[in-house]
Amino acid sequence: MQGSTRTVNEGIDVSDAGDEGAGISRPAGPRVDSSPSDVSSGGSRPDASPLGSPPAASPPLGSPPLGSPAVEGSSVEDRAADTPTGSRITPIGAPTDGNPLHFRRVVSFHPRGGRLNDVQRRAWDAHADRWYLDPAQLIDGFDPVATFARDAPLVVEVGSGMGESTAAMAAARPEINLLAIEVYKPGVAQTFHHLARIGATNVRVLRGDAVDVLTELIPAGSLTELWLFFPDPWPKTRHLKRRLVTRAFTELVATRLRPGGTLRMATDWAPYAEQMLAVGTSTAALRNEHSGWAPRPSFRPKTRFERRGIAADRKIYDLAFVKR
Ligand SMILES: C[S@@+](CC[C@H](N)C(=O)[O-])C[C@H]1O[C@@H](n2cnc3c(N)ncnc32)[C@H](O)[C@@H]1O
Repeated sequence: MQGSTRTVNEGIDVSDAGDEGAGISRPAGPRVDSSPSDVSSGGSRPDASPLGSPPAASPPLGSPPLGSPAVEGSSVEDRAADTPTGSRITPIGAPTDGNPLHFRRVVSFHPRGGRLNDVQRRAWDAHADRWYLDPAQLIDGFDPVATFARDAPLVVEVGSGMGESTAAMAAARPEINLLAIEVYKPGVAQTFHHLARIGATNVRVLRGDAVDVLTELIPAGSLTELWLFFPDPWPKTRHLKRRLVTRAFTELVATRLRPGGTLRMATDWAPYAEQMLAVGTSTAALRNEHSGWAPRPSFRPKTRFERRGIAADRKIYDLAFVKR
């Protein structure tokens, strides 16, 4: 099945994604340029090993923010609509600080606009106050206890998409505080819709690039779990550099997990599963909880990405790595 097209979210076919962003520049501001994309498998060989060390240009994780390169992947509409001031993380699509437009960082998400349809706009207007965590309000950092108004194990979900599974998992795990991070604004709005449906009290949704959010906002050693379920597989050779899971990413996640905390991943894309297994295994601060693939977590529902993979006869791979 490799090499066949796969549609991700809202019918966008990642196999057709170009390397050029829709519009464009990424701003300045605090950013550690340790993008997993920068250190991914790279090269032109399909599913080449991602185990190479981060490039020398990458600063150590947790180092002070660098002046950031602009990046592809943000729409003009985003730039106009979503430029919070004072945020510690790079606002999606905010204006450039003067970095040349060609100086871009490769990102793991598809360049898409942030335009909401009427239903999503209504969901945003009705529910953002309750569930949206605005990075612009986090100038002093992210305080999980204050944010959730309770002290509970903190779990981050990276790439929560349209939020259907986020809502189901939050309901299945009432004992956790769940911070969902999604870069796609319509997905965030749609997530509010699902959270309202179940009356969730233990979820907040933050719109941003998870690499930035983890780097800049999530306190070291604070996470009980981090979930990454069905990340964009970027199957085409020329897009491999966009895959989120590289050793730089797993090393970043390891710094955010508490000892004994767990990184859980799932994918239906076999080469990406192998990449996840390889980078997780080679991350010194993590150990594989199982000898290979993990059993499916009981709380993880079948998303349409999983159903699509199964319909195409693809195997589903779960992985679990524990922070030493
Ligand atoms: C294939 S979808 C999977 C959604 C969801 N996890 C599910 O299983 O239904 C991947 C999602 O990750 C988001 N994403 C990709 N890279 C991201 C990043 N660096 N930060 C935040 N979200 C990201 C995309 O916008 C997309 O919504």
